[in-house]
Amino acid sequence: MQVSPVSALAGSVQLPGDKSISHRALMLGAIARGQTVVKNFLPARDCFSTWQCLEQLGVKIHSSDQYRTVLVEGRELHGLQEPGQVLDAGNSGTTIRLLLGLLSGQQFFSVLTGDESLRQRPMQRVVKPLVQMGAHIAGRQSADRAPLAVQGGNLRAISYRLPVASAQLKSALLLAGLYSRGTMEIEEPAPTRDHTERMLQFMEVDIQKDGNYLRLNGGQQPVGREICVPGDISAAAFFLVAAACLPGSRLVCRDVGLNPARTGVLDVLQQMGARLEIRNMRMYGQEPVGDIYVESGQLQAVVIAGESIPRLIDEIPALAIAAARASGVSVIRDAAELRVKESDRISSVVKLLTDLGVKVQETANGMIIYGTNRPFQPAELESYGDHRIAMAGAIAGLMASAPVTVRQAECVAISFPNFENILHSIRAQ
Ligand code: S3P
Repeated sequence: MQVSPVSALAGSVQLPGDKSISHRALMLGAIARGQTVVKNFLPARDCFSTWQCLEQLGVKIHSSDQYRTVLVEGRELHGLQEPGQVLDAGNSGTTIRLLLGLLSGQQFFSVLTGDESLRQRPMQRVVKPLVQMGAHIAGRQSADRAPLAVQGGNLRAISYRLPVASAQLKSALLLAGLYSRGTMEIEEPAPTRDHTERMLQFMEVDIQKDGNYLRLNGGQQPVGREICVPGDISAAAFFLVAAACLPGSRLVCRDVGLNPARTGVLDVLQQMGARLEIRNMRMYGQEPVGDIYVESGQLQAVVIAGESIPRLIDEIPALAIAAARASGVSVIRDAAELRVKESDRISSVVKLLTDLGVKVQETANGMIIYGTNRPFQPAELESYGDHRIAMAGAIAGLMASAPVTVRQAECVAISFPNFENILHSIRAQ
């Protein structure tokens, strides 16, 4: 992908559906009673990985209008079938981790794998509590790496404090909890996205929340509903950052999900000096949605750390570009989780910024970025096969002194197939 510099961004952006919510709508729809209609589904590679795995488990999923509306025929809690083939989660951490939870509840055998990146990512965090609940899971490196084989069934609920703030881990345990005897009790070290909890409630499952504690009684049957998926704030983040950085920009991102566990990027941009306004707030089921208006500002350096990290973990590659354009020295810390994403995102972002001519220092759990108001130097950037690194590189191209190339940019389709067209459509004339 080649991106040439632009003076400003303008216009209106309609974001694709939220990735996390699209995965959950398919999975919960699959085990619901009755049909689930998913509107504004994200037709991206990661979500199709979930879709295909569910089809192999006997779930019927249809779509009429180019995947924007998807219909899932629920098979109820105990209606999934043993797959005849290995389930391939592709590049998708959410697919493999949530399915590990779901499959642990099934009285049959299944095997899960993924692409080269996913097969290097840690699974022990999910496997360990599921084994404690009674699932039998075997895999490479003492069941820490896929391929993983699961023989599920006969689960008992446990009380568990998550060792990492991970919504994928929490969601896997909630799914397994539906199949357990007794009451699951989960404590999070810091709040993470709660889409699974909200969707379960929307599907008539009783789930109690008290601060960072969750309780779920096993055996509850979710009921199929119509789910309207909000626009993905993690996709919007690239345009919000670019508009915040480019003087004279005015942009609106419409119908974006504003779940408070996801809006850390807005807080940071505002703190840095971007002008943001939310209008037209409303609810899609249990999820808040609104239009985000952004105007550029004189950006100042920022510290991103502590409990805010899970609220913006996927937006750090984009925010690093904003930090590189801000005046002063920005610090990102407490973000060691970035090392086990689709790529090692600490090292990928540090290399990206270095290639763009930005001074940056890598630390064990983050980075220090020395902002500059000079345009980025033109470069051939690596994506490391990581969709969010590719999109961060692309928006850097808008602020460079000459066109920037992003290599292996086809990985953008993992979360945002239409990214390049939208990026092109908001260049101010
Ligand atoms: C996700 C949770 C986060 C996030 C990922 C999507 C989810 O991962 O980074 O992109 O859908 O639950 P962790 O649970 O590993 O933090």
